[in-house]
Amino acid sequence: MCGIVGYIGKRDVAPLLLEGLQRLEYRGYDSAGVVITGKSGELRTVKAKGRVRELESRIPKRFAGTTGIAHTRWATHGAPSDLNAHPHLDADEKVAVVHNGIIDNASELRIRLSAEGVVFASETDTEVLAHLIARSAAETLEKKVSEALRSVEGTYGIAVLHQDFPGRIVVARNGSPVVLGIGEKEMFVASDVAALVAHTRQVVTLGDGEMATLKADDFRTYTTEGSQTTATPTTVEWEAESYDMGGHDTYMHKEVFEQAEAVDRVLRGRIDDRFATVHLGGLNLDAREARSVRRIKILGCGTSYHAGQIGAGLIEELARIPADAEPASEFRYRNPVVDPDTLYVAVSQSGETYDVLAAVQELKRKGARVLGVVNVVGSAIAREADGGTYVHAGPEVCVVSTKCFTNTVVAFALLALHLGRVRDLSVTDGKRIIEGLRKLPAQIEEILKTEPEIKQLAKAYADARSMLFIGRVRGYPVAREASLKLKEVSYIHAEAYPASELKHGPLALIDPSMPTVAIVPDDDLLEKNRAALEEIKARSGRILAVAHQEQEKADHTIVVPKNEDELDPILMGIPLQLFAYHTALALGRDIDKPRNLAKSVTVE
Ligand code: F6R
Repeated sequence: MCGIVGYIGKRDVAPLLLEGLQRLEYRGYDSAGVVITGKSGELRTVKAKGRVRELESRIPKRFAGTTGIAHTRWATHGAPSDLNAHPHLDADEKVAVVHNGIIDNASELRIRLSAEGVVFASETDTEVLAHLIARSAAETLEKKVSEALRSVEGTYGIAVLHQDFPGRIVVARNGSPVVLGIGEKEMFVASDVAALVAHTRQVVTLGDGEMATLKADDFRTYTTEGSQTTATPTTVEWEAESYDMGGHDTYMHKEVFEQAEAVDRVLRGRIDDRFATVHLGGLNLDAREARSVRRIKILGCGTSYHAGQIGAGLIEELARIPADAEPASEFRYRNPVVDPDTLYVAVSQSGETYDVLAAVQELKRKGARVLGVVNVVGSAIAREADGGTYVHAGPEVCVVSTKCFTNTVVAFALLALHLGRVRDLSVTDGKRIIEGLRKLPAQIEEILKTEPEIKQLAKAYADARSMLFIGRVRGYPVAREASLKLKEVSYIHAEAYPASELKHGPLALIDPSMPTVAIVPDDDLLEKNRAALEEIKARSGRILAVAHQEQEKADHTIVVPKNEDELDPILMGIPLQLFAYHTALALGRDIDKPRNLAKSVTVE
C-alpha cells in the first residue's frame, strides 16, 4: 500500500528520499512523487506514474535541498497517473502533503471547497488536505494542520511541508502508520521502519490522534488538540541488512528459506523444561485469569486468519478451550456479541491491517480483553491490545506472507501449551509438545532440501487452470493457506475444501484437467483421507499429496518429516509455499509484488 518517507537535516535530500521509496517498493504502488524545499525556500515537486526509477529519471540535475517528503501511491481515488501521484499542493504551491489512508468525506469537502473557488488539480481525496491547510487562518503550521484534520473523516498518515514555515515537517497519524526516525542532527519520517533502518534504529511510533513536528535537531509530539505527548525512542531490533535480498532472486524465496532460523527465534528463551511449559512474557494474563477463559476467538485477515485457524485447533487440542478463528473484516461488521469470558486474539504480521485494528478497537470499546499475536514491534495492533506475543519472524518484505505464517502458528502452539499447562494438559503431553517444537527447525531444513523435486512438480502442474486443495481437520487450514499462496503468486485459480465435503459438491469438478493437492498427515484420519484420494482417482483426477509417506493413489507425493500430530500443520504447508513459488516462477509472475496486492492493507 502507499508509502511515506521524509527527511530533514543537512544531507542532500533527494537521494535519501529515493532510497527510502525504494525500500518501500515492496508494499505495492503505482506512482511516486517527491517534494523538497529548494535553495530559495520554494517547494519543488516531481511526480511520475510507474516505478520509483521512473521518478528518479525525471528528477532534474539541480534539485538540491535538505528537507523533503516523498510518497509511493496505491490508487484509491482516481486512476494511477502523474497528476494523481502525491505530493499534492494547494493552488499557490505553498503547501505540500503526502498521505496514506482514505479521507471518507473527500467528495463533500471537494464540493465545499469548489464552491469557495478552489480548482482541483487531481482526482484524489488527499488534495483536499493541501487546500484545507493552505486556507487555514491559524498562525502556526501545526495549528493549520490540526484545523484541517478536524474537518476530515477517515484514516491518515500524513507529512506536510509549508513554504512559509521552513525548517520543519509536520506529521499526523490516524489509522495509518507513521514512524519517526531519530538521527544525529537529522530526522526521518516514514510509514514503515524499512525506509529508516539504514540510517537510524532509534524510532518513535506515533499513536492515533498524535502529531509531530520534526526539525533537524529536534522533534516533539502532541495531540491534534495540541497537548504535549511523551515520546521515548525505542530501538528497532531489525537491521538494515535484513531487508536485503541476501543472494536470493526474490524476497519470497529468501523468506521461505529463513523459516528454520525464524522458528528458532520464536522459541528462544521461552521454553521451561522444568514445568513442561512456556513463558510468554507479554501476555498480561495470570494463571487464574487463564483458567477462567471460557472461549477464545481469533481474528485476522488472509494468511494471518489461516494461521489463526490452525491456532484455534491447537488451543482446542492442547488447552481444551473452545476456540475458533474468523476474518476480522467480517467480524467487525456483524455487531458481534462480545462476551466477557471470551479471550479475543488479534493476529497480524504488520500489526497495521485496518480491518484487524478496527475489530480490536470495537472489542475494546465493548470491554473485551484482547491479545495480539503480531510480528511488527510497536505496531498499532500491538499497542492497542491488552497484551500478547510477538512472533519474531524478522521483517517480511515479499507481499505474500510465508515465514510470518509459520512463526505465527508456532506462537499459537506456545500460547496453546501455556494455556494447556495451567489447565488440563499433563506434564507428559507438555514435554511431548516441547520436544516436537524443538524438532521443527531441523525438520524445516529437511523440507527445504527437497526444493529441486518441488520445482519439477511445480513445472508439471503449472499448466492447470484451476486447482483444488483439500485437507481434513488439522489439514484443512493448511489446504486453505496453500491455496491462497498459489493463487496470490501464480494467479492460478485455487479453491480449498475440507476433504470431508468432497462428495457434497466439489467432486463434480474433478476431471483430468483439475489437479488436487491433498494434505494427508499420518494421524487418526489417515484412512479417511486415503478414501478421499480414491474418490478423486476414480474420476481420473491428478493428485499431488503432501504426506508423511508415499501415497499410492497420488500421482506425486511430497514426503515431509513427521512431528507430533498437533504440530504437523506447521510443517505441511512449507513445501506448498515452495510449490506456489516455483509455479509462479515457471509462469513468469512478479513474485514479490503480485498484481493488485499490497503488503499491508491499512485501508478498508
Ligand atoms: C497473504 C497475505 C495477506 C495478509 C493479510 C493480513 O500472503 O500476506 O493475506 O496475511 O493482508 O495482513 P497482516 O498479517 O499484516 O494483518
